Amino acid sequence: MSSDNQNSRGCWNSRLGFILAAAGSAIGLGNIWRFPYKVGENGGAAFLILYLVCVVLLGLPIMLAELSLGKFTRRNPVGAFQAIKPGGNWKIVGFMGVATGVGILSYYAVMAGYSLGYIVKIICCDGRTFESFAANPAYSILLFVIFTILTALVVRGGIKNGIERWAKILMPILLGLLVILIIRSVTLEGAGEGLAFYFRPDFSKVTGKTLLDALGQAFFSLSLGMGAMITYGSYLPEDASIFSSGCSVALFDTLIAILAGLLIFPALFSAGLQPDEGPSLVFKVLPRIFSSIPAGNIVGAAFFILLSIAALTSTISLLEVATAYFVDEKHWLRKKAVWVISGMVLVLGLPSALSQGIVPWLEDLPIIHTSFLGMMDWIFGNLMLEVGALLLAIFVVHVWKTNNVIGIITGGRPGLKMIEKPFRFLMAFFCPLIIIILLIFLIF
Ligand code: PFF
Repeated sequence: MSSDNQNSRGCWNSRLGFILAAAGSAIGLGNIWRFPYKVGENGGAAFLILYLVCVVLLGLPIMLAELSLGKFTRRNPVGAFQAIKPGGNWKIVGFMGVATGVGILSYYAVMAGYSLGYIVKIICCDGRTFESFAANPAYSILLFVIFTILTALVVRGGIKNGIERWAKILMPILLGLLVILIIRSVTLEGAGEGLAFYFRPDFSKVTGKTLLDALGQAFFSLSLGMGAMITYGSYLPEDASIFSSGCSVALFDTLIAILAGLLIFPALFSAGLQPDEGPSLVFKVLPRIFSSIPAGNIVGAAFFILLSIAALTSTISLLEVATAYFVDEKHWLRKKAVWVISGMVLVLGLPSALSQGIVPWLEDLPIIHTSFLGMMDWIFGNLMLEVGALLLAIFVVHVWKTNNVIGIITGGRPGLKMIEKPFRFLMAFFCPLIIIILLIFLIF
């Protein structure tokens, strides 16, 4: 019997296994779909620089805190808060994380389903546009269901046999495919203009919205604010270093986002298209680019295979958070937890799957004038992650106490003493302040 049965929580086999799985959670549609379109909308290189600053000053400290909380308590987000402060209300933050994971998964799997569908679409070259593709209710729902079931099957396998094994295979394939596609993209005629857009900053284009987008993107991309890293940290072996693991994951995630930009912008400019296409950038623009280059359908199919792989390693972590909660706290069998939560995801995700050109009022909701999917992304992929990260920072500083966290992050290694002061400052002042300002902007 596997060590991931109901009696044992399971543990990563190796540090590399953990890093690949956690980087797999972080790397997803957020890097390859969301990041390039945000860069495109926000004027290019200046956004890239702001994003990098946000990753280092906000993302990294929150990442280290989440991993420490998981490693120390060896619990899911609800159990982790409860273990540090029994009987208090802090476990509500854990519940928020579990609910946020289910919420994000419900629309994320819809987008991931489109990516899966595009593999077939590009190979068959049926020439359909994104609109006609997304507007087919049976096809949209079928792809969403397939992607959710794929995720459930991997998570059902548990930690070593499911998540780690797949991450070890999928992540290197992803990196290899990206590099091959980038070589093609940067050697296209006119690619230089795209490189200039991506790497030559124009700070006159920076506004408050640029900063907000950069901050939100950093949290979403690093899978922070909903306990995914608490859960993954809870499976870390005793001797693993939080600091080096956390830094590797953040570095790997950022590298893939930068590479995704390097893939998309040269090809985009070479085809004479505009970078501010919005959320549909990847789905609408890239197939046109692929159809205009030699061996385009092979390149295109490879790209959407890559995108589906990246999305799968993220949906796995979204489902794992709620699964770990039911396995740890309610003593459910992993199998039962996975299928019950996946059923909830399918019901909750249905309006999102129908909101891309199928049911008109779901496409343009009254008052907020966004699609149901857009609303879900705003609530769960933005607001809830910001609130979750803010509450975690407050919990770490005022309840758990920063000294305890620092002890876990450094593991008593003298060489890591220099991170103490910056970590204290960032956790106690900088992160909460910036997140509060961001939330005020986000809400009003
Ligand atoms: N980080 C993932 C991405 O960039 O696509 C999305 C995500 C996964 C967000 C897991 C939050 C999370 F807990």
